[in-house]
Amino acid sequence: MCGIFAYKGPQKNAAHIVINGLKKLEYRGYDSWGIAFKNRNNEIEIHKEIGKISEIDLDSLKDTENHLAIGHTRWATHGGVTRANAHPHSSEDKSIAVIHNGIIENYLEIKKDLQKKGHKFASETDTEIIVHLIEENMSLGFEKAFHKTLEKINGRFAIIAIYDKEDKIIAARKGSPLIVGLNDEKKEYFIASDIPAFLKYTNKVMYLDDNQMVIVNDELKFYDIQNFKSIEKRVIEIDWHEEMAEKGDHPHFMIKEIFEQKDTLSRAINQDEEKIKEVAQAIKSAYGTFLVGCGTAGKVCHAASYIFSQVAKKHVNFTFGSEFPSYHHFLTDRTLMIAVSQSGETADTLEAMEIAKEKGVKLVSIVNVETSTMARMSDIVLPVKAGPEKAVASTKATTSQLAILTLLAYACADKLQEGKQLLINTAAQINDMINPRYEEHIETLANKIKDVESMYVIGKSLNYPMALEAAIKLQEVSYIHAEGFAGGELKHGPIALISEGTPCIAIIANDETKNEILSNAMEIKARGGYIIGVSPDNNEIFDYWLKTPDAGDASPIVNIIPIQILAYKLAVLRKNNPDMPRNLAKSVTVK
Ligand code: G6P
Repeated sequence: MCGIFAYKGPQKNAAHIVINGLKKLEYRGYDSWGIAFKNRNNEIEIHKEIGKISEIDLDSLKDTENHLAIGHTRWATHGGVTRANAHPHSSEDKSIAVIHNGIIENYLEIKKDLQKKGHKFASETDTEIIVHLIEENMSLGFEKAFHKTLEKINGRFAIIAIYDKEDKIIAARKGSPLIVGLNDEKKEYFIASDIPAFLKYTNKVMYLDDNQMVIVNDELKFYDIQNFKSIEKRVIEIDWHEEMAEKGDHPHFMIKEIFEQKDTLSRAINQDEEKIKEVAQAIKSAYGTFLVGCGTAGKVCHAASYIFSQVAKKHVNFTFGSEFPSYHHFLTDRTLMIAVSQSGETADTLEAMEIAKEKGVKLVSIVNVETSTMARMSDIVLPVKAGPEKAVASTKATTSQLAILTLLAYACADKLQEGKQLLINTAAQINDMINPRYEEHIETLANKIKDVESMYVIGKSLNYPMALEAAIKLQEVSYIHAEGFAGGELKHGPIALISEGTPCIAIIANDETKNEILSNAMEIKARGGYIIGVSPDNNEIFDYWLKTPDAGDASPIVNIIPIQILAYKLAVLRKNNPDMPRNLAKSVTVK
């Protein structure tokens, strides 16, 4: 949430580099943006605007002489979407500029205190107190004033500051991600909230962990915030390439990532079998296993609880990250937590892991960003291997996470090879299913229903959580009111919402739930509903049929894909930007 990017190096157009880097981070927040750079007179110049940075063209900055710049793309937390609230924020004399991702919990009391001391505030943000606090302590020097500020603020944050009299960038992290990219030979340094922002320049990275800060001068110096002592960090080479984070020939990242599911599933299944067995053993011997995730990853956890029950006859709990703290009473050092996340940085899931860690719980994570905070916190990491996912709505990471959890369930039942074979077959079936004809067939449906106000999705058993996930996908990008239900729950209330022509997607797997969910669909049809069947077989009650392969226990994986495509098509037809839906952000690093 909120994208941060900073550059210091030999290239003379730092501001332009930062703008281009921010464009690659826009999925983290896109209500406003801003940059600050040191101009040739060593003054800090700030440009900020409301709206999306992808829509601006600041070519005028291309030829400006500046070697140090910072930038921010915002997802508003404190204070509305206004130019004044956009970052960077500067001190009253414009000598210091700050960008920030996160929330400063005690900002109000600090603000009041600073106001008493005569500080004038230009915005409603919590961030602005940071720059005033630095200013207040500048008699100590920039570095110490920055460090002293960190001692005063509570909350989760990533902060970057610059000062017009010094050629350095200072950054600190507690809770929100910050990664340093480097090309040491060229003395070129980047700091960003996510790797794709600087992949064009380097794949060598150094991670800031919580309570660490870095000073970027002609070299990098890392410090422990708690005692301001210098620390050593490791350089890691990552195997992502720039093209992986680009749209290629596709109009949007979302459809590119949906199509990538032709390959991503095979990569996900290709796990280290010893590790899978180790996690399966940990699940079997744990005194309670919790699957934890947020948003789509939460739905994946919910589906997995059914898969474990069905395949391994094993009860595993699932909970959303934000709800997990209420379960802390049940945690012991024999509990196991499996955190599921695309980014590995979602604040609520991270907090759940922190709570669990304190109680001695063993931590496993299934994450796409292998070097993320969650991965680094975990005892065992099962990598999702989907490559960078940039559209806000998760697609390819979802199906890969489902595949890994299905594999784990089979491993728990001592049937790992059988599970692997099922998933290999499913990957091949998906490869056949996703093609331009299928896309066109779904587009025809999207054209029929694009103007509806509401739609509903029903599913049962393994596919009930997929009905919930389908509804999220539709809400997120099409902005149509969509809700998912367990088919059996319909007659306890939701059926009152059905009127003539209301589209209702029925997810119908070829298993023992088939007849029951078909009956539920029939009940909707009898009240005028327009039935869209997602199923391996056609049925006379369907008004429109989206064929899916018969994938057995892997049915949640195949069934969500046509609905991902439908959500995408609806978004485009309704002239929404599917990659950056309103009010949302990809990496939710605030609680
Ligand atoms: C946001 C994204 C969702 C994602 C959720 C959890 O809400 O828009 O697509 O499912 O965060 O993110 P994570 O990175 O933990 O999977």
